Amino acid sequence: MKAGTGRGGGARRRVLAALAAVALTGGAVAGAVVVASQAGAATTTLRSLAEAKGKYFGVGAEESLLTGNSSYANIAATQFDMITPGNEMKWASVEATQGTYTWGPADQMVAFATANNERVRGHNLVWNSQLPSWLPGSFTSAQLQALLQKHITDEVTHFKGEIYTWDVVNEPFNGDGSYVQDLWYNAFGGNNYIADALTWAHAADPNALLCLNDYNIEGVNTKSTAMYTLVKSLLAAGVPISCVGLESHFVLGSVPSDMQTNIARFAALGVHVQITEVDDRILLPATTANLAQQATDYGNIVTACLGVTLCDGVTVWGIDDGNTWVTSTFPGYGAPLMWDANYVTKPAYNAVVTALGGTVSSTSASASASASATGGGSSGCTVAYVPNQWTGGFTANVTVKNTGSAAWSAWTVTFAFPGDQKITNAWNATTTQSGAAVSAVNMSYNGSVAAGASTNFGFQGTWTSSDASPTSFKVNGTTCT
Ligand code: XIL
Repeated sequence: MKAGTGRGGGARRRVLAALAAVALTGGAVAGAVVVASQAGAATTTLRSLAEAKGKYFGVGAEESLLTGNSSYANIAATQFDMITPGNEMKWASVEATQGTYTWGPADQMVAFATANNERVRGHNLVWNSQLPSWLPGSFTSAQLQALLQKHITDEVTHFKGEIYTWDVVNEPFNGDGSYVQDLWYNAFGGNNYIADALTWAHAADPNALLCLNDYNIEGVNTKSTAMYTLVKSLLAAGVPISCVGLESHFVLGSVPSDMQTNIARFAALGVHVQITEVDDRILLPATTANLAQQATDYGNIVTACLGVTLCDGVTVWGIDDGNTWVTSTFPGYGAPLMWDANYVTKPAYNAVVTALGGTVSSTSASASASASATGGGSSGCTVAYVPNQWTGGFTANVTVKNTGSAAWSAWTVTFAFPGDQKITNAWNATTTQSGAAVSAVNMSYNGSVAAGASTNFGFQGTWTSSDASPTSFKVNGTTCT
């Protein structure tokens, strides 16, 4: 099956609108961060490393953060090449009032993805959770069957040609391998709702891959074997199933050692496997040892997927520890993602870069090494400058660590560009540039940096003859190491 090729009229209109917006504004689509072609990129990104291995690297994102949080949007635009709307395509989001569709937020995410040369996973069509309030408890079985067919047909048709893979049915199994006896199971008198849903989705967009998606099916166990048996029987019956999604919401240290074996047994059936919602929650507080274990876990997940050709890629369920469903869903747990709440990369990020065959940038490695080696000096700092460049343009993320013993209540970072860069916009700092000299001052919300803590800002700009990175930085007048 060839995925994601066709384009419906609606899809074409939205893409053209996005491209027109790029042309008019020189880069920004409705506030979205746009990154031009990755060709010639000087720096490692998860997406470029994954693509070199024939995989994607995706993120489960939220439209409100893409538009309201520029640090988040910048990472979503540069590090990933697949986006899953975290909630925006769920039934409760698209049809809160019966008969009235609200496609706006999901459409905007598709436009963001398109503008940044990323693909989209559709999530999800059939689930017993996040249903509109008008739906459960109000209809007969026959009515529910008709409503489900209409929902699937209308939503898949709306996004026809824009979706690489749909999670058609979400979380159909209990832990013991039995079916969840939810409203769909009951209305259809059994698990045949799954075959019907796949058939309806395929009819509406024959080019999309179609997944069954569930959690705790990452290793070989009772639940994953129930999924395996179901997929096998659907294939035997000629039902258009083409993919299994392993959500991969892990508790620290619980990535099964047979994850690759499990992926391989699904692939041997001829279906794609996608790692769809990775996070790895830590019983707080996160210690150095916990973060090291988390790095091992993330590396193992990526390695398991890389080992199987039909494993298409890995999606993480969020960007930063400040914006994750884990904190509200699992009290006491947190810190499950690859960036901390200040958008500083964690050891897990470096482990994923390494697993993907990349080299961890020596600047950031030495930044953390020298930070941990620094004792009780009164003032001190390290800076990691991570550029991402293309012909004529660049972005740079700057992470500044306070390695001194006193907190900062405000900061000014100064440096000089060795090249002819011109900053056009910045996030998490106000920049002023005079010739090559740049000064970046904290915003109202990020001036405080405790001893040992880090902060992060960045900017986008243009260059003509050289985008060489600055090598010397000062914070509040003190030269950083
Ligand atoms: C979560 C979202 O991240 C939250 O924002 C929302 O409140 C609840 O749902 N399995 C899934 C995802 O398939 O849709 C869930 O997403 C997380 C668990």
